[in-house]
Amino acid sequence: MTNKANAPAGTSAAGLRGVFAASSSISDVNGEKGELIYQGYNIHDLAKHSSFEEVIFLLWNKNLPTANELLQLEQSLKASYQIPGELSALMKQFPREADPIDVLRTAISALEFYDSNARDVSREASVKTAIRLTAQFPTIVAASDRIRRGLDPISPDPGLNIAANFLYMLRGEKPSERDARIFDICLVLHADHELNASTFTARVVAGTLADMYAAVTAAIGALSGPLHGGANTNVMKMLLEIGELDQVEPYIKKALAEKRKIMGFGHAVYKTEDPRATHLREFSRQAGESGGDSKWYDMSRKVEEIIKREKGLYPNVDFFSASTYYMMGIPLDLYTPIFAISRISGWTGHILEQYADNKLIRPRAEYIGQRDLAYVPIDQR
Ligand code: COA
Repeated sequence: MTNKANAPAGTSAAGLRGVFAASSSISDVNGEKGELIYQGYNIHDLAKHSSFEEVIFLLWNKNLPTANELLQLEQSLKASYQIPGELSALMKQFPREADPIDVLRTAISALEFYDSNARDVSREASVKTAIRLTAQFPTIVAASDRIRRGLDPISPDPGLNIAANFLYMLRGEKPSERDARIFDICLVLHADHELNASTFTARVVAGTLADMYAAVTAAIGALSGPLHGGANTNVMKMLLEIGELDQVEPYIKKALAEKRKIMGFGHAVYKTEDPRATHLREFSRQAGESGGDSKWYDMSRKVEEIIKREKGLYPNVDFFSASTYYMMGIPLDLYTPIFAISRISGWTGHILEQYADNKLIRPRAEYIGQRDLAYVPIDQR
């Protein structure tokens, strides 16, 4: 590890803020400028022109694909959409009330049993595993939602891209082009974010040369926390609890007076607008407009205005994704698994990068306990 600004060599930084704990070319966040780049490309350009599949190629390969390379990756992903029958059978045994992010974590851990090459961490084998994982996350999340509702999972449609296929497997009908494109851009926006908590987790596990399933399972665990990927669900719970536009001001003021954190605001790196929020705000507005009900968008804007005024904080990626997904009819507890459906591309990219130039990640802890104590036998304590 090398140290940046607020962490002089040999000292510890709370929460590792400002510490470079890995070298990576995959993505970079400029918190002052509110800039995010993937392999050198600005997120705004990728959101405008690219697709999730193209971004997956970019994250794994350091360059945008040629038409032929993109086609090959799309075909490999589509050929891997289907999950093993044994896994579907296992998922049917899970409790109906299980949280979908926990179902995903457990299913991914179990998926390893059905891959005889799981332990091969060579680049060639790992790319195949990355394709399988990226292709099967949506199938698992959609199947888990159908199973808990007492419905049969819908087989993936290899004619559809990842975004459209997920919405199809979830709803049982093909999505509109508009919904599919918005969802595709949401996947582009969430794909990678430098050394966030779950990506760091994935790299730490991969750094022991444990296999990709182990690293990704651990990453899902890190993502599930309310301070990370769990924030989006809590944003929507808050909006539903507030209920009406005229209740926003009293609710937020009371929450702030009670020193409660407002989910979807603040960021460990961004000190200005999160560039992903710019797109998601617009999707939320469009979803309200096309559905003929802008209530959730209007309430979100009001919350944003108050938090900016009272705390000087900006919305992060989770804030407007909540109302966007809600207006697309997606169940609240699938928001974090959807984050994972996208972030698997970044996690696997980082794991590939870690394997390619591996060093065990083993920092030190600053010892704050006592020393030189005399051992007292148990019957004398
Ligand atoms: N609502 C209200 N106050 C907030 C806040 C929020 N969402 N985020 C930060 N703050 C305040 C803290 O209370 C603290 O105030 P204090 O100095 O008076 O105690 C100050 O801002 C610094 O917060 P801290 O949590 O130490 O900053 P951080 O850089 O570690 O936090 C987050 C980053 C993301 C963990 C934090 O902003 C947060 O918890 N946000 C809500 C959860 C969320 O949206 N997570 C998704 C991140 S993409």
